[in-house]
Amino acid sequence: MKLVFATNNLNKLAEVQKMLPDSIELLSLKDISCFEDIEETASTLEGNAQIKANHITENYKYNCFADDTGLEVEALNGAPGVYSARYAGEPVNAENNMQKLLHVLKNTDNRQAHFRTSICLNLNGEQHFFDGVCKGEILHDKQGEKGFGYDPIFKPEGHSMSFAKMSSEEKNKISHRGLAIQKLVQFLLSLS
Ligand code: IMP
Repeated sequence: MKLVFATNNLNKLAEVQKMLPDSIELLSLKDISCFEDIEETASTLEGNAQIKANHITENYKYNCFADDTGLEVEALNGAPGVYSARYAGEPVNAENNMQKLLHVLKNTDNRQAHFRTSICLNLNGEQHFFDGVCKGEILHDKQGEKGFGYDPIFKPEGHSMSFAKMSSEEKNKISHRGLAIQKLVQFLLSLS
């Protein structure tokens, strides 16, 4: 079966392909010649994942899954959430996003936060959702150089270092996206 992962991130694609049997062939957006921007206009992570998956299924007639992730900070009632990528405005810039969050939380003792990933799968006319959560806290300063986005200021629960100090293998095992993908893979394996 061919299954589109609505991404152009080849690392993400390879990571998931490794977890799937050979009977499932993952395709990227480029593989199906989808080059247009799919606007993420929903107010929830589930909604944005659904927009992307539906765009592919409706326009390209493929089974497809799409993901969307946000950082939800307890003291900010879940912000930046679905707006995580553009928290500090345009142009999208991880450094500015982190500086804004550190500034907003400067006098806040409650540093609890979690990343949440929602995956929407369109398979043979049915829609399924999977989610993954990684709890942790927002640090007071940046730590580490690896990863992307808010990784240098996020320390996952039960660990002594930020995401940005972990190898991608270590991070994938415990991360929101890793957990959501594992649920998706379990579901796909249960069908075969
Ligand atoms: P996306 O839905 O995977 O594109 O994620 C949206 C935004 O959330 C990204 O632009 C990052 O700012 C942030 N984000 C998502 N996943 C991570 C992560 O694993 N570490 C740090 N930031 C992340």
